[in-house]
Amino acid sequence: MIKVAPSILSADFGKLGDEIRAIEEGGADLVHIDVMDGNFVPNITIGPVVVKGIRPLTKMPFDVHLMVQKPQHFVEDFIKAGADILTVHVEADHSPHQTIKHIHDQGKKAGVVLNPGTPFHLAKDFLNEIEMILIMTVNPGFGGQKFMPEVVPKIREVKEYLDKEGLSIDIEVDGGITSENAYEVARAGGNILVAGSFVYKGDPKERIASLKAACEE
Ligand code: DX5
Ligand code: ZN
Repeated sequence: MIKVAPSILSADFGKLGDEIRAIEEGGADLVHIDVMDGNFVPNITIGPVVVKGIRPLTKMPFDVHLMVQKPQHFVEDFIKAGADILTVHVEADHSPHQTIKHIHDQGKKAGVVLNPGTPFHLAKDFLNEIEMILIMTVNPGFGGQKFMPEVVPKIREVKEYLDKEGLSIDIEVDGGITSENAYEVARAGGNILVAGSFVYKGDPKERIASLKAACEE
């Protein structure tokens, strides 16, 4: 079963509470929270105070995507604020083994993220430690970018490798996902679809349903 994780980056922050309730009522499975530091990526978005503020509004798990340098310095604050799953880029400045351990020591789930240009082999060292691998289908930094179909073979490569090794790790895919490409992503092996602009540029309930329906084809 495919899960949908709407990214609140594309929500209206003037009514963030309503925007979160809309995706919960619309059948979202996780809330994807895009954290950007203006350093690892050229944009600044959401910090722990916002996560803390929205935590009481929903029971959906918070999937916190850390697009920051030195993520090890921030995981504790995001966990205290209410994060359930934290993903860290292999390209960021840290030792992923230690950052993953730090997340697990606090009882939360951990994942690693690969940018479009980063090969899968750079994540292989961490597969026995993580609950999720996040594959970017846009270069991180902004919502509303175009899906990069050239990343689809990497999704397939990850899925085939995980199956061969008997590893049950979620494969989350993030960037430019719409009802047009959701099936292609799911068929390649993605089981959690992040969607920001697609969900929030229409009626969230209809958009979430159309993503799930596209994958059932
Ligand atoms: C990109 C973010 C994504 C993105 C999703 O840097 O990690 O989560 O905002 O938004 P859309 O679906 O609009 O690409
Ligand atoms: Zn993201």
